[in-house]
Amino acid sequence: MKPSRIKYDPYLSLEDIAVNSGVSVEAVRRYIKNRRIDRKCDEEIIRYHKVKRKIKDNPHVTIPQIATSLSMAIGTVRKYADMKRPPRPSHGKISMVEQMQPTLYVSVSESESEILRAILFTYLNNTLTYDCDLTIGKGGFYQNSVPLPRFLYDINPLMDGVKNLSEAINLPNEVFNSVVIDLPCAIVKPTIRRKKQIFSSFGTIEELYATYKKMIELAWRLLKDDGILVFKTMDFSLNSEPLWISDKSVATAVQTGFSLIDKYIYIDRKAVNAITSSRRRASTPAHAYFFVFKKRQII
Ligand SMILES: C[S@@+](CC[C@H](N)C(=O)[O-])C[C@H]1O[C@@H](n2cnc3c(N)ncnc32)[C@H](O)[C@@H]1O
Repeated sequence: MKPSRIKYDPYLSLEDIAVNSGVSVEAVRRYIKNRRIDRKCDEEIIRYHKVKRKIKDNPHVTIPQIATSLSMAIGTVRKYADMKRPPRPSHGKISMVEQMQPTLYVSVSESESEILRAILFTYLNNTLTYDCDLTIGKGGFYQNSVPLPRFLYDINPLMDGVKNLSEAINLPNEVFNSVVIDLPCAIVKPTIRRKKQIFSSFGTIEELYATYKKMIELAWRLLKDDGILVFKTMDFSLNSEPLWISDKSVATAVQTGFSLIDKYIYIDRKAVNAITSSRRRASTPAHAYFFVFKKRQII
């Protein structure tokens, strides 16, 4: 699935989503179809919650009173009032309202988008997406429930609308509320490093650490006070020696001035299955970290 610029919000009309995203209504319809979003179910869930909220706010309210205040038919109000649980999407389809519901506490997930959504909910007022991604790559993070950020950069732009990282380096200070970084986590010896590996690995550990530092400092400069940096990384071993890249990333961010406010663990199920079925020890763990850093000005 291709990442999309469409800022899909199940609470808005197709026309409003199209205007907000700068696309046609037809494009929004295609988005809904391709992503198998059950919009009809979402509309029902929204009505269900509206009715239940009225009853919760005033237990003595009558069905006709709710119908009048919500401009719904009496029969419709009765239907939702009698329901024990919200409607569920049809088989094979997804509910965007469900996806946007507060995740009570997700610290571990097999879905990167679920983690990114949980961070948006918990630390960014449930905004639809992030302001900026500095390592957008092929946009894998934004294939499901999180739309593409407005500002996209990469040292090796691969998608339409992605600007070269050098343009982010030239941006003024403090322009974003949130920034996402996901740098390569692999070392391939410079002698055997092929052209296509240049952007998916580093030649030496020193190069990796220097880039991590440079990118964390860039995020610090681009973020407003209290802005959020989401930094994905993982540990791996080199010549059977473990390299604690994640600890080093936290130390670098903290030295830059960030506070580590949360950590999420992404479990790569395919990698777990591959390791357990082959009974081989993996050189990279089958999990990665999503660190959440907050920019706090030192007074
Ligand atoms: C793991 S990929 C990011 C994948 C992305 N999160 C996604 O969802 O598709 C790593 C990204 O870091 C970028 N990158 C590689 N070397 C870099 C460097 N030295 N400085 C900045 N970015 C670099 C690559 O171009 C690549 O897009």
